[in-house]
Amino acid sequence: MRLFTGLDLPAEVVRNLEQLLDRLRPAARIQWSPPANLHVTTKFIGEWPDGRLEELKAALHELPPRTPILVRVRQLGFFPNPRSPRVFWCGVESPGLSELAAETDRATSALGIAAETRPFSPHLTLARIKERLNPEPLWKAIEALPSTDFGVYQAASFFLYRSQLRRGGSVYTKLAEFPLAK
Ligand code: 2AM
Repeated sequence: MRLFTGLDLPAEVVRNLEQLLDRLRPAARIQWSPPANLHVTTKFIGEWPDGRLEELKAALHELPPRTPILVRVRQLGFFPNPRSPRVFWCGVESPGLSELAAETDRATSALGIAAETRPFSPHLTLARIKERLNPEPLWKAIEALPSTDFGVYQAASFFLYRSQLRRGGSVYTKLAEFPLAK
C-alpha cells in the first residue's frame, strides 16, 4: 500500500476551493485535482506492507497529545516557479502543523520509513502540470480573483490515507483517524 498522513478540509473550505477551481479551470488544460481529493500532507510514507499496517497505526496513535491546530488556507503559487510550473498550489499557513509533521516524521522513522530531508512546505495541490503550458492565461485569471483567502479552521485530527495511482488520477482513501487530543 502507498500511504501518507495528512489533514482533511472542512466542507466550507472545500466549497470555496471548488468555486476557485470552477473559475480557473477554463484558463489551463492541466490535471486539476478533484475538490474531494484536496488534503494537506504531513508525511509521505510511500509503500508499506499490508501486514504491518496495525504497527504503523499504533505508532501514529502514540504521538504526543496536542490542542487543535489552526489552519489558514490562502495564497496561490507554483512549484518550482510560475514560468515552468509543475504544481499549482494553494498555501496552508499553520505554525502548529510543522510540529505535527516533525513528530510524525520521528515516529515513522523509528519504524524504518525514510526521514524527511526537505523543509516542510504545507500546501494543497490544486493541479499537476505535466505538459508544456503557456501559463499566462492562468496568471491573468489568478490576478482577476476577488480574494485568495479560502478559509480558516481548527484541525482536531489527522488521518492515515491510502493513495492508489489510477489512470484517471490518484484516489485517496482514509484508513484511520488520529484525534490530536487524547
Ligand atoms: P503533492 O500533492 O505535493 O505531490 C500523496 O501522494 C500525497 O503525498 C500528495 O499530497 C503528495 O504531495 C505527497 N507527497 C509528498 N512527498 C511525496 C513523494 N515523494 N511522492 C509522492 N507523493 C508525495
